[in-house]
Amino acid sequence: MKLWGGRFTKPTNELVDEYTASIRFDQKLAKYDIQGSLAHVNMLAKCEIISKEDAEIIAEGLQAVAKKIEAGEAELTEVNEDIHMNIEKLLIDEVGAVGGKLHTGRSRNDQVALDMRLYLRDALVALSQQLLDVQQALYKQATENLDTILPGYTHLQRAQPVLFAHHMMAYVFMFQRDLDRLADSFKRVNQSPLGAGALAGTSFPIDRHYVAEQLNFDGICDNSLDAVSDRDFVVEFLSNASLVSVHLSRLCEELVQWSSAEFNFVELDDAFCTGSSMMPQKKNPDVAELVRGKTGRVYGHLMGMLTTLKGLPLAYNKDMQEDKEGMFDTVETLQGALALFAPMIETMDIKKDNMYQAVAKDYSNATDLADYLVGKDLPFREAHAVVGQVVLDCINQNKYLLDLSIEEFQNFSPVIEKDIYDVLSPEAVVNARNVAGGTAKNRVEEQIVTAEALFSKS
Ligand code: ARG
Repeated sequence: MKLWGGRFTKPTNELVDEYTASIRFDQKLAKYDIQGSLAHVNMLAKCEIISKEDAEIIAEGLQAVAKKIEAGEAELTEVNEDIHMNIEKLLIDEVGAVGGKLHTGRSRNDQVALDMRLYLRDALVALSQQLLDVQQALYKQATENLDTILPGYTHLQRAQPVLFAHHMMAYVFMFQRDLDRLADSFKRVNQSPLGAGALAGTSFPIDRHYVAEQLNFDGICDNSLDAVSDRDFVVEFLSNASLVSVHLSRLCEELVQWSSAEFNFVELDDAFCTGSSMMPQKKNPDVAELVRGKTGRVYGHLMGMLTTLKGLPLAYNKDMQEDKEGMFDTVETLQGALALFAPMIETMDIKKDNMYQAVAKDYSNATDLADYLVGKDLPFREAHAVVGQVVLDCINQNKYLLDLSIEEFQNFSPVIEKDIYDVLSPEAVVNARNVAGGTAKNRVEEQIVTAEALFSKS
């Protein structure tokens, strides 16, 4: 007989059991469900709703069930629908009818909301640590490449040279925003819904704060209807995870480009690439591609959850059972990606000479020629036009700016002097961007110091 079978006259259709059961996926919540039940049963005893003796029997029973589930010895069934009722059933099998006192003053509606929050709390801590590891790997590449110059791009056309360290630090700051967002969302996850009952609260004299304290929550959800209906914290997580995925995916795209023969800027370590079944020469950046590809499923889960919630009246609706798979999959997808990312970044070989050649054989110092003319009092718009002519002429002659003789320069503008050659070298161009946040070496060093302060805080 079902735990809720009292008012039914027929067994459930087998397909209904299969269709409505969540045990297949919500067994991931087992540990949290038991953690919550232990706090609940302690509270029931403290508030003299059940006896201390009964509470002890139930607590021991729960520990025994936890061990069995962990060891894979517990039978979790679709007939018992979800992890909550499976555990309650296992408990009753373990300790007898007294196990049936556990659910006093509680509903699966507040119970599942609690489990989701406990799970996500742990996931946020774990993911933040992994993000930190990725940041550290990027930071290390930055500190080792403070003299490595590569083309910076806009429209994927060479624009102005930048330090490779600067490029790495851009991602460090992106991931910092992700970390900040996860930390901020933690506050909203860390509120206890337990005690909301099915929707309206409970008639038992429970102590919601005591439960919340035992479980290290910052406080309790203020409104019982909201407590059981709220899945904002899931949406918020999926949204934050989507941004993490955007950042990972953009970096992946760059790694894929950079490791092509056309760019040839980096070589990913053999341990993080795969081969081809047909073409013996191939070394493919599969990890970077797959991390880029898995972004789609994370966005999908976000849209799925938003759509599931949109038409739901208060309070709990079975639709909300759909909150789980997307959240679990997102956590696991990110964990998988981040675990590979830190070592992949750390071990990649930076082809400094190729990067430098790409800057030297290029017109990405054109802005600096224009800026030089502005220094000689030409309005920037006129300087821009002059340099446009110079570049066009160089392209026609198959030359770069630094190949021009001083006479050739002076044909375009008589104010150009020999010091122009010092201004146009890649190093000079980089170091000229000596503005806060710019790519000049000392400015990138400042960014590194800023990042170090962030790391030491977290
Ligand atoms: N398995 C359900 C879920 O994940 C648990 C809550 C069910 N509550 C109910 N009244 N049917 O949402």
